[in-house]
Amino acid sequence: MSTVILEGKKVSKKFGALKAVWRVDFQVRQGEILGIIGPNGAGKTTLLSMINGTETLSEGEIFFKREKISGLKPFRIAEKGISRTFQVVKPFPGMTLLENVAIGALFGKDKIGNAKIAQEKTREILDRVNLGGKADVAVENLNISERKRLELARALAMDPELILMDEVMAGLNRAELDLIMELIQNLNKEGRTIVLIEHVMRAIMGVSQRIIVIHHGKKIAEGTPEEIKNNDDVISAYLGARYAKMRGRNAEG
Ligand SMILES: Nc1ncnc2c1ncn2[C@@H]1O[C@H](COP(=O)(O)OP(=O)(O)OP(=O)(O)O)[C@@H](O)[C@H]1O
Ligand SMILES: [Mg+2]
Repeated sequence: MSTVILEGKKVSKKFGALKAVWRVDFQVRQGEILGIIGPNGAGKTTLLSMINGTETLSEGEIFFKREKISGLKPFRIAEKGISRTFQVVKPFPGMTLLENVAIGALFGKDKIGNAKIAQEKTREILDRVNLGGKADVAVENLNISERKRLELARALAMDPELILMDEVMAGLNRAELDLIMELIQNLNKEGRTIVLIEHVMRAIMGVSQRIIVIHHGKKIAEGTPEEIKNNDDVISAYLGARYAKMRGRNAEG
C-alpha cells in the first residue's frame, strides 16, 4: 500500500441551490496518475479548484500529506507543492513564453527570487515541454497545443509534487496527444503525483492507473481503467446510450 498524498472528505461545493460537487470522498496515492472523468458539468473542474484553493469548500475537508489545506489561499497551497493547469488557458498577455513561465519559477515552492536563475530554470522547463524554440515568442502567437503545453510549463515552474491537470489534451490532434501523454508519463516517472481531468478516453484510459468518475457532483465509480470501462453505471451515466449499444454490438461479435 502506497502512502496517501491527498485526501478529500465529504468535499462539497454549492453554487446557490446547485450542488456542483456533493460529499465526494477521495484519496490520491503518492506517485500515481489518477484520472477524473464525467460528463460536461459533472463538477470535475470545481473539484480541482477546491483542491488548489481557487474555490472554497461549502462542506468537507482536504488534506495534503496529512495537513489540512482546505481554507488556505491558493498561493499557500501552491507553496506546499500543488500546482494546476486551467481548462481555459489564460497566459499573461503581452508577454513571451519565457516571461509567462518565469513568473511561476519566481513565486513557486522554492521561490527562486532571482530573475536570472529563474530564466535558466524556465528555459529547461520549456525544453521539457518541447517549447524551447519558442521561448521568446509572444503568447498570443501560440496554437492550442502550444498553449496547453505552456500551461503545463507554468505548473512545472513551481516544481510541484502534485500536479492537477484540467483537460490538457482537449483539442489536440493524434500526434500532439501522444506528445503530451509521453510528457505526463515522464513527469510521473520522476516522482510527481498527477491528477488529470480528461474527456479524451483513449488518453485517460491509457495513462491513468486509477480513475474516479463524477456524475452530477457525486462520485459514482472508482477503479482501474479496465474496471471503469466495464462498469454499467459509468457506461449508462457517462458514456451514454450510444456507447452501451456499441459495446453490445462488440459483445455479439
Ligand atoms: N462559479 C460558478 N458559479 C455558478 N455555477 C458554477 C460555477 N462554476 C461551475 N458552476 C456549475 O457547476 C457545475 C459543475 O461545473 P464544472 O465546471 O465543475 O463541471 P465540469 O465537470 O468541469 O464540466 P466540463 O467537462 O464541461 O468542463 C456546472 O453546472 C456549472 O455550470
Ligand atoms: Mg471542467
